[in-house]
This record gives sequence, C-alpha cells and structure tokens, in this order.
Amino acid sequence: MRKTKKSEAEVAKQVNALLEGMSLAEKVAQLAQIGGAAWNDGPGAGEIIREQGAGSVLWLNDTAEFNRLQKIAMEESPSGIPVLFALDVIHGYRTIFPVPLAVAASWDPAVAERSQAVAAKEARAAGIHWTFGPMLDIARDARWGRIVEGAGEDPCLGSAMAAAQVRGFQGDDPTDPQRVLACAKHFAGYGASEGGRDYDPVDLSEAQLRNVYFPPFQAAIKAGVGSFMSAYMDLNNVPATSNRWLLQDVLRGEWGFDGFVVSDAFGVGNLLTQGFAKDGRDAAQRALEAGLNMDMASSVYLENLADLVEDGSLSLDQIDAMVRPILAVKVRMGLFENPYTDETLLEKVAAEPESREAGRWAAQRSMVLLRNQDGLLPLSKTQQKIAVIGPLADSMEATEGSWMVFGHTPAAVTVLEGLRAKLPGTAIAYAPGPEINRDVPHPFGEFNTSERKPIQTPEEAEAAFQTALETAAGAELVIMVLGENADMSGEFASRGSLDLPGRQEELLKAISAMGKPVVLVLLNGRPLSINWAAEHVPAILEAWQPGSQGGHAVADILFGDVNPGGKLPVTFPRNGNHAPLYYARTLTHLPEESPRYRSRYWDSPTTPLYPFGFGLSYTTFAFSHLHVSAAQIKAGASVTVSVDVTNTGQVAGDEVAQLYIHQKWGSDSRPRRELKGFARVTLQPGESETVTFSLGPDELRYWSASAGRWVQDAATFDLWVGSDSTATLQAGFEVVE
Ligand code: NOJ
Repeated sequence: MRKTKKSEAEVAKQVNALLEGMSLAEKVAQLAQIGGAAWNDGPGAGEIIREQGAGSVLWLNDTAEFNRLQKIAMEESPSGIPVLFALDVIHGYRTIFPVPLAVAASWDPAVAERSQAVAAKEARAAGIHWTFGPMLDIARDARWGRIVEGAGEDPCLGSAMAAAQVRGFQGDDPTDPQRVLACAKHFAGYGASEGGRDYDPVDLSEAQLRNVYFPPFQAAIKAGVGSFMSAYMDLNNVPATSNRWLLQDVLRGEWGFDGFVVSDAFGVGNLLTQGFAKDGRDAAQRALEAGLNMDMASSVYLENLADLVEDGSLSLDQIDAMVRPILAVKVRMGLFENPYTDETLLEKVAAEPESREAGRWAAQRSMVLLRNQDGLLPLSKTQQKIAVIGPLADSMEATEGSWMVFGHTPAAVTVLEGLRAKLPGTAIAYAPGPEINRDVPHPFGEFNTSERKPIQTPEEAEAAFQTALETAAGAELVIMVLGENADMSGEFASRGSLDLPGRQEELLKAISAMGKPVVLVLLNGRPLSINWAAEHVPAILEAWQPGSQGGHAVADILFGDVNPGGKLPVTFPRNGNHAPLYYARTLTHLPEESPRYRSRYWDSPTTPLYPFGFGLSYTTFAFSHLHVSAAQIKAGASVTVSVDVTNTGQVAGDEVAQLYIHQKWGSDSRPRRELKGFARVTLQPGESETVTFSLGPDELRYWSASAGRWVQDAATFDLWVGSDSTATLQAGFEVVE
C-alpha cells in the first residue's frame, strides 16, 4: 500500500493535467468543504460529490461512509478526484492523550510528537486524512476557554510544541498511511480576543503579532505543515478569513507557504454577520482574493464562485491558483492510488498496547506538582483508609477533557479507578460531592453521545455534600479531585472567573477543617485561581485533563512510582479579573520590584499565584556555574550559555532548565523576561548535567515597532537560568555593532 514519494515536478504535472480536464463547477467544488450527514438541509454530501466532486468532507466519523462517499468521488464524479476526509483530532482519536495545554506542560516536544503520531495512526486507520490541528494560538488570558487547546502563553515553548505536533501528525512522508495532513490554526491572533471572550475582536500591533503570535505558525511551516486554517475574528478590523495581509503578504509572500488555507467553520458566510461583506457574492470574492482556498461548511464558495467567474469578476486563473494546492496535497498523499480505508483496520490499531503506554507516559510527563508541604507526597502504598472525594474523581469526560472527537464515547481510566488499580488491597471510599455545571449549557452538548443526567436540585446537592463529609470523616487521608468539567474549557467555554466552579472550594475547606492530610488533584483546562488551596492544602497536583490513561498516571505520581517534572506553560493569576497576566510583559516605570511606588492593584497583588514555568519535584535541584562564552559579541554572532543542573535530593527526577533574557534598552522597550531556550533533563540523586544554550541572531532580533522592521540592537542583555520564570541565577553579555 505504501507508495514512494512523488517529486514536486511529478506532482505539478499531475495537477496541471487534472485542471485541464475539469469544468468550472468541479474546480469550485474542490474549494468547498462540505459537511457529513448532519450538516444542513441542502443536498447530501453524496449528491454533491456525484455531481461535481468536493474538496473535502468534515463532521463525519464513519469508515464505511467514508468509503461509500469516496467510491462516488472516484467512480461517479466527472473527474474522479478523491475527497479529503477531515476531522478535529486534537489530542487523540481512540487513545485520548492529555489536552494540548497539558502536553505543553511536559516541556518535552517528544511528548507532543509521540502523542500526535498515535493520534494520526488511529485516525488514519478510521479513514481520516486531515486533522484540524495543531492549534497554535498563543493565549495569555486564562478566561479564554480555548487556552486548553494550545501550548499556553509563550512563543518559544509554543514553537517547539508546534513543530513537534506537525512532525507527529505528518511524519516525513506524505504517502505514509499511518499519518494525517496537519492544519496550523487559527491564523492568527485568535488567542488575544478582547476580554478573553470567544470570537471577540482582536487588536494586536504588528510587533505583537510578529514577536509573539506568529512564531508557532512559522515553526509549523518549517516542520512542513500542509494546511492552515484562518481564524474567526476580526484582526485589527479585518476578518482573518478575508485578511489579505495575513494570507497573502505574510503567509505566502514572506514565509513561502505553498499548502492551502481553509476557513474556520462557516467563516466565509460569517463575513456577512461580521458586517464586512455585503452579500454572499461579495464574501466569496473577497475571501478568495485574500487567499482563502477552501470554504469550510458555509456553501458560499459553492453558491457564488462560478457566477463570479462567468460575469468576469474573478478570472479562471484565480480559481486555478486556489485549486492547485488542494489537488497537490491529494496527489502528494497518494490518495488517487489509495483512496479507501480497510474497515477492519481501526479495531486492530486501536488495540495496540503501545498506544496506551504512550498515553500514560504522556500524562505522567504533563503533570505539575504545585505544592508539597513537608513532603506529604509521595504517599505510602501501605496507606490504610483513603477517601477519594470530588465531582471529577470518577468522571471519564473530565479525565479525557475538552475537544472530544466527533462521535467519540469517553472511555478513560478515572482517578478513582487509577487509585484502586494501584492499591488493589486497600479499601478506597468514594463520594462525588455536589456536581458542577455550567450556568448555560454548552451548545455542542447535542453531539455528546453519553446520556445527560438531570441537573441536581439544591437539596440533592446538599445531601451529596453531607455524604462527602461523612465519607471523608471515615478516612485517614483524603484525595480530592476538583476542577472543571470537560465542557468548561474549549470553544464556547470562556469564563469570567477562574475560581473552582460550584461548591468545590466550600467542600475543600470543610474537609480540610477535619485536620486530616488532604491531597488536591486538579483536573482542568485552564489556570484556576486556587488561592485558598495554595495556602492551606498541603499537596496539590495539577493533572490537567490527562486523557484516557490519566487515572493511572495520577496514581503513579501520588504513590511515587513516577516523580512529577512538568512545569506550567501559563501563568496562574490570583483572580480572573487579573487576566491577561503573563510573564513577558514590558517593564513599567514603577516596576513591581521598586520599594514603594510599585505598580499594582490597591486591593490585591498583581503577582501571579504561580509563575510561568513553575513546578516542583519529589527531589531538589540546584543550578550552578552559569557561564556565558563571551562578555561581548558583535551583532549577528552567537554566545553559548551553559549551566550545571544537579539533583541535590534523594530520588531521581526531572528538571527543566529554562533560559530567560532581558534586553536592557533598544529601539523598542523589550519584555522584562523572554524564554529563549529550555531543556528537560533526568538526573539521578547527586548527578549533574551541563546544559548549553545558544543565543544568536534568531534569538536576539525582534520586530521593532519604532523601526517597522526586524532589528538586532547593540545593547546589554541580562540573562537568567533556573527552574521557572523567576529564576535568580544571573549573568549578562553585550551586543556591539
Ligand atoms: C470551529 C473551531 O474554531 C475549529 O477549531 C474547528 O477545527 C472547526 N470548528 C471544525 O470543527
């Protein structure tokens, strides 16, 4: 089945031959992505494909139906061009991996690559060719629900995760039947929506875009990503769907991207609702002229492009230019030769034990130890009476997390199950306490396959609260599993507050008041303002939404079989009202460190609850011998920074060495700190490793707002290396002309 790669000349030849034989209607159809069964009231996908073909089909997850539609495309449609089947495979297909924010917390690109390679293998076995991932939006506002889908707040970490995910999804051979085409989304700036409200406008300077929001997209292109998705919102008053500067000037002109761009769902139609286009014709014309190849689901291209060509508003050349990269992808992937999927393959692939192992390993590496007073963790396996309390302790949905694959039924090892499997001889009591719910239901609830229980009445919630107290009272140790349901982060899931929803904190306080040791395990897809817990609960493990093996991974860490080594990829604010809060701000004229006139709120500190990069371990580490290879370099040259990391504790563990710089003056004000390198190392007790980083023009240049171009200034730099963004081990160097 595996085909050898075609040369680009062969690809172009085949694409040209196809184009020559295609009618205008067929070309337009290649620019359309149409929905599966539940799409709209118009003709079904099969009918459209038979008449004129289709570029792609989405929102369908059924191998037999893929094959049926593909047979129509190959045998009954005029040109016999295969369809690309697309779906959101965001963090796993059958084996669900930790959500992307959690994977970023591993600070280990190998976790991202391996997770997405398994996701690709399973999804492709089901007949899916193309995933709508990775999601590369830098997000600095924890209220924004979609922060869970990305790698957090930092462009350096985000770029490393972007490239690794592309490699995992696509591999290096487009004909590989175990890989899928990746899609870098949402281009660009979506994570900076005003107030953290989903889809709200984004106003970002060119400097912010180029220095912060674009780098992960550029990293994805370097890694070979085959497609892009435009974002929904207005970027500086121009919808990203029809933003020529983004799609033509930057993406293709500057970066040389030669794949294709799909809109977000209904994005072309939304140009009307966004008050940008006059009507469907106008929307189709302006989106196409801006460089948008494929219309996801809105039918506006299907309904208007042919007329626009016929009346001379668009030329056939413009249409061909948009169709060409879509056909090229189909040719490169070998879909003409191998259009169908073996309907028995998925069950075999999904049963592979290595995939489950990968899921458990990824979850272990993603978790972040936030607090461990007096070494409460790891727990002893001879622990006698344990109570597990909380609405998420036995929730498969919360364990697998947000962005479930269309039609997927959750099948996770919950924290309760993981703990029971770890301690088979120990009686573990369990009570969920009051359930938690969104104030308004999630609009995607209708796609949920599990049965919806009626929401608890206040009386039922009170009874559940009391039962939880009684259950805790009978135990010697309480493990509380709190946080957010799966539908509380993700799309349509922005929040005004970052507090634990519902009565969870009240329950945590009441159980803590019993005076027993309490361990808090958090399952959530965004930073939470757990201020009370951070001061009063002795042990806190941020487990995120750890995926289908998540419960085992939590048990592995709580009982010391695995030493946690993850680090926060986002700042945890003390309060939702403090968002956006991130470490790489520029300095104020009254820096936080100044003695008296500090810039802060008068009613609360603006420092984070937990800083970016933070995470503890069961062992301790020391950084020493920070060395910079030269005190002075010429612009364009590089320095090497080295540091020794030593495990100074009693057990083996992982530390992430993080290098931050600050340029002290320049053409523009520069961030107080910027991450420029990181390395996760595993060290035995007493062992040291020298970690080295290079700082050269790529790390030291930036897009200057005042100069309107890339600059590398002659200036002095401070640098720090340590275990988080507050690292104190400091050195410096100077760049001269
Ligand atoms: C809307 C989301 O914004 C996008 O991320 C997703 O890929 C599409 N819908 C398709 O489901």
